[in-house]
Amino acid sequence: MTSNPVQACSSHSPPSLISPLLRHDDSLQLPDSPLKLGLMASGSGSNFAAVAEAIATRELNAQIQVLIYNNPQAKVVERTSRWQIPAKLLDHRDFQSRQELDRQIVQTLQQFEVEWVVMAGWMRRVTQVLIDAFPDRILNIHPSLLPSFRGIRAVEQALAYGSKITGCTVHLVCLEVDSGPIIQQAAVPVLPNDTLKTLHARIQEQEHKILPQAIALAARQHALKKELI
Ligand code: GRF
Repeated sequence: MTSNPVQACSSHSPPSLISPLLRHDDSLQLPDSPLKLGLMASGSGSNFAAVAEAIATRELNAQIQVLIYNNPQAKVVERTSRWQIPAKLLDHRDFQSRQELDRQIVQTLQQFEVEWVVMAGWMRRVTQVLIDAFPDRILNIHPSLLPSFRGIRAVEQALAYGSKITGCTVHLVCLEVDSGPIIQQAAVPVLPNDTLKTLHARIQEQEHKILPQAIALAARQHALKKELI
């Protein structure tokens, strides 16, 4: 069987519909040493918790080296003590530019020896500074079936549009918002009486499943690509 890894962010075109990694994996175990993750979050952190839980239950062979959060009020930080994960506040308001913030993010991630970056509800646009430091090793989770409903308020957008099906996507991060190669998706039906809250809650249930899976898939894909070069 020929391998057909999903395209890199740098040479992005629509990814192949069938990736070998999305076809046959039924385990999230990675063959080698645990992946060293750096998580970035701005909000309540349910996706952060899902990744930490998947690691704790050994579904995902990884460890979270550090959580970076940008909002002092973000509830995500309250979740770190349960797993004794270091948390670092980098408040975007303390920086002159997006690039300057990203330089500090990169420095922090490198200081904690992070290999893979996971944006789990990170509500800031990233710059080339971050992308260049972790080429094709930054993931983002978005609450729609991309390429539909990019950007903010994706769940509202799907409801307003009258979509019958929406969902969530984990993708590699490119400069253009919510646009990198897709790693994993889950579909969620929109029910007749759905509100923003009920629909988002069902989407989040799926997010918590696919994010740990996608981390493992992306890492395998990356390793496979390196072998092929
Ligand atoms: C998620 O719905 C994610 O798709 C979006 O931000 C939300 C973060 O939720 N990017 P949480 O903070 O992980 O609960």
